Amino acid sequence: MKLSERIRRLKPSATLAVDAKAKALRAQGVDVVNLSAGEPDFDTPEHIREAAKRALDEGFTRYLPAAGLPELREAVCFRLKEDYGLEYRPQEVLVTCGAKQALYNLAQALLDPGDEVLILSPYWVSYPPIVELAGGVPVIVPGQPEKNFEPDPGEIEARITARTRGIILNSPSNPTGCLYSREFLSAVAEIVQAYDLWVISDDIYDRLRFDGRGPENILSVAPDLRERVILVNGVSKAYAMTGWRIGWSVGPEEVIRAAAKLQGQSTSNATAFAQKAAVAALTGPQDCVKAMCRAFAERAAFFYQALSGIPGVKPVRPQGTFYLFADFSEFYGRRAPSGEEIQDSVSLAEYLLEEGRVATVPGVAFGDDRFLRLSFAQGLETLREAVSRLREALSRLEGA
Ligand SMILES: Cc1ncc(COP(=O)(O)O)c(C=O)c1O
Repeated sequence: MKLSERIRRLKPSATLAVDAKAKALRAQGVDVVNLSAGEPDFDTPEHIREAAKRALDEGFTRYLPAAGLPELREAVCFRLKEDYGLEYRPQEVLVTCGAKQALYNLAQALLDPGDEVLILSPYWVSYPPIVELAGGVPVIVPGQPEKNFEPDPGEIEARITARTRGIILNSPSNPTGCLYSREFLSAVAEIVQAYDLWVISDDIYDRLRFDGRGPENILSVAPDLRERVILVNGVSKAYAMTGWRIGWSVGPEEVIRAAAKLQGQSTSNATAFAQKAAVAALTGPQDCVKAMCRAFAERAAFFYQALSGIPGVKPVRPQGTFYLFADFSEFYGRRAPSGEEIQDSVSLAEYLLEEGRVATVPGVAFGDDRFLRLSFAQGLETLREAVSRLREALSRLEGA
């Protein structure tokens, strides 16, 4: 059967692929420390699980309006007010099957073939394919660790053409764990105004920041941008609810209606009882989020310190999320005991998985081949073991 050109060109998700390989090794009985996962290791808090059980028992199992349960659209507005002081109305909210679908729908609603979207590198793996599936062209703006991965505004401007439509921002960032500074966000806001662009602000890790401050996005520094900004978020990361598949987009009503129209002809509403659980998450006690964030902060500090102690590894200090991005390029060009040369992030990640029994994600998947991404959504003991395995496996590489 002939498959479409579109699907033949689509690359499978690199992060899901590593995770699958690590799980396959585990299934063969190999004891692998899996630092490739993109999800919290905590269980969904009990009061949220109880809300879902109650919804099921009450028969909350039927179709909902495609754009989402009105109560959840309101709960999203409530949180935006509490967390950011932003005022939104429920009609400006679309409930989706995870933040991923929110992004997918927005790309479909906003892009015509050939339209360009600025993506700051390192970026989340799915941004370029989501843009490409809508016929758009991802335009990558590289960032450097010494500069907090914030490109100079001039570097962004230099890539703007008559086809540029918008920019995607993600802070705290997957994969770098970095938070954009207010100065950088203000500079981006100026560019966005000057060139008549929109912004998709992927705030999925906004509550997981380690400086004790509340969430911030581009609207925190440039509230005037409201008509140009679409906020994307969800319950996956902050509430340890990755499997529930509830996310949302919030923005100008015209855009939200367009994305909702697409949803009405594709997936319809996100799972009914999961939406009830999301209401409980957003409107219930928030100390669970704070407790998980504290645990991630403690692990981040330990992991950063421990990895800094391995000669040749240059970790970036995480400011949020549960990812640590580290430059391992010093090991490129060295040889494994098998004689094979480590050439890049993919061959190093394969070596570390097969010989060190630690699963990581190659940086090339995020647009920077010097790095590996290591998730610290694991207990401290597991992280300690991971560091010792990494140190040992790296020390067996020969020839500097
Ligand atoms: C930056 C970023 N955006 C969006 C998502 C998608 O989240 P969800 O599980 O809500 O679809 C992820 C998940 O890994 C992510 O890392």
